Amino acid sequence: MSAKSCGVTTSALAMTLSSTRPSLLAECDPAGGTLRAGFFQSQITAGTGLYHLAVAERAGEDALAQAFASHLVGIDASSHRQVLPGLTDPAQAPALARTWPALAQVMRVLSDEGGYDVVIDAGRLALESGRLHSTLTPAPLLQGADLVLLVVRGTDQSLALARHMAEPLRNELTERGTGADALGVLLVEDGPRRAHEVSEALRLPVMAALPWEPDTAAYLAGTGRAPRGLKKSALLSSARTALGHLQAAASRRALHQQYPPTIPAPAVLPAPTGSRAPAPQAPVQQVAGVLQRLGQGRVEPRV
Ligand SMILES: Nc1ncnc2c1ncn2[C@@H]1O[C@H](COP(=O)(O)OP(=O)(O)OP(=O)(O)O)[C@@H](O)[C@H]1O
Ligand SMILES: [Mg+2]
Repeated sequence: MSAKSCGVTTSALAMTLSSTRPSLLAECDPAGGTLRAGFFQSQITAGTGLYHLAVAERAGEDALAQAFASHLVGIDASSHRQVLPGLTDPAQAPALARTWPALAQVMRVLSDEGGYDVVIDAGRLALESGRLHSTLTPAPLLQGADLVLLVVRGTDQSLALARHMAEPLRNELTERGTGADALGVLLVEDGPRRAHEVSEALRLPVMAALPWEPDTAAYLAGTGRAPRGLKKSALLSSARTALGHLQAAASRRALHQQYPPTIPAPAVLPAPTGSRAPAPQAPVQQVAGVLQRLGQGRVEPRV
């Protein structure tokens, strides 16, 4: 998420496309999705996407788990990379408020049981009385995430806006999330400020950085042609590296929370699950249903 339009959607898509594991990009920006008209060039109708999950959830969690898979769009030939397209109208956002907790659970299952990298585009940060806004942000998704990245550019304007967001976000994750150490910065390298300056200004670690690369970004936004050697472009290569660092950071956190330092660690540690959250409560058959149906592609792959 960002304080203001810094490159959240572009960065999330770049990471989803470059993941070495199965990956899912959930476009959960309450202000509305841009992938449908952008990257997908209007190939996907309003009949597919996030809003329909709010409708399904009204019929029960089983219905949501079943509907989830049918609203995903494959973005590569193998359909190992999927997108859940976002809202077509910001007026739909209030309907999602009661759906976010169930969606958080489905995404947790995909990550922990399905081995997916789940990347969530949470849009812009909005606060009410110092807390995450209940309809203008997907607060439960952020509270349940392994890592929450504040996307900033290396410009003074971007840092000035982000500075006001760091403290409330830290508090939110301490009080209602998985802990303040889930929070870090994703730096989009536009502007003069380097990672150490960004980190100092926001008092947050820079957990990932992506280069400023207008051609590839324009392609991802649906406004430019695919650059030559897209997969080897600086943006996608760096996104792959960034994702690797983030996976490692998430695993370290999970392990730390499983075995806090005060408790002696066993001689042989089990493999990290990638999560510190409580075990998902979704019934096994629901989960199996979701995972089984994830292989469906719907549009011509663009990568
Ligand atoms: N790494 C990058 N290199 C070059 N241009 C970029 C990069 N990341 C984003 N951009 C450009 O910045 C603009 C905003 O990006 P994007 O739409 O991803 O931001 P956002 O944070 O999702 O914005 P919003 O809050 O409006 O949804 C776009 O024109 C995009 O092409
Ligand atoms: Mg966006």
